[in-house]
Amino acid sequence: MASRSTIGVFDSGVGGLSVLHHIRRTLPRARLIYVADSAHVPYGDKPAHYIEQRSVALTRFLLSRGADAIVIACNTATAAAASVLRHQFDCPVIGMEPAVKPAVAATKSGVVGVLATTGTLKSARFAALLERYAGNVEIVTQGCPGLVEQVELGELDSAITRELVERYTAPLLARGADTLILGCTHYPFLSPLIREVAGRHIALIDTGEAVARHLRHRLISEVGLNPDLQISKCGSGSAQFFTSGDAAQASGIMSVLWGGTVDAQPLPPCVAA
Ligand code: DGL
Repeated sequence: MASRSTIGVFDSGVGGLSVLHHIRRTLPRARLIYVADSAHVPYGDKPAHYIEQRSVALTRFLLSRGADAIVIACNTATAAAASVLRHQFDCPVIGMEPAVKPAVAATKSGVVGVLATTGTLKSARFAALLERYAGNVEIVTQGCPGLVEQVELGELDSAITRELVERYTAPLLARGADTLILGCTHYPFLSPLIREVAGRHIALIDTGEAVARHLRHRLISEVGLNPDLQISKCGSGSAQFFTSGDAAQASGIMSVLWGGTVDAQPLPPCVAA
């Protein structure tokens, strides 16, 4: 049985760090390799085949660095590329979806709002998710152009970010939503601002923690990870960071969001392009 595993995680940019925090907590000994595809962010308004190509290139890179499993820490890339990655690569591939099922269980008003990228909202995968779990609950969706870019700039509470959050939450609250799904991994970094704007009585739901739990389960059952050795007193893990964009700029914002010094390395040019 393996005592630790190597986990490859990617996102269009820094948003997936919100998932990486949960993975670190759940698997404190793991070797984490994170790729921010900063030269291609945002994915939300790009065609599915473009995101698919990027996801294949980043997965190949992560596997070449020894990843035992891949986490697509991006709802948009999961919608566009999860099936292709699962078909093409022989390792656990864990994706993310907006948390419709728990939100439907949590709502008391019977109205749930979904904040996500336009790519996620128009995907067949999201339509199937609603079909499966919405039941009698009214689901109101809201695309959020510009929000990902604000998080990439580290502007978690600027006037522009606040204005966008007000604009995107207002129609959902007006329809009576008492539960908002954060359907993009960048948005948990805006939770304090969204809470302030929407009100503390509004529940915010994201899937980072559930994804980390699912990953742990898959590593134990498919990669032979020893569950008894996954606590921090058995040793500490490591984290390496890569970006397809400007390494100095990415290191700055990633250090803030990760909560420790990040020295992001440039991806090899053939992967970054
Ligand atoms: N963090 C991504 C997601 O969860 C990003 C989106 C984007 O780059 O537009 O959907």
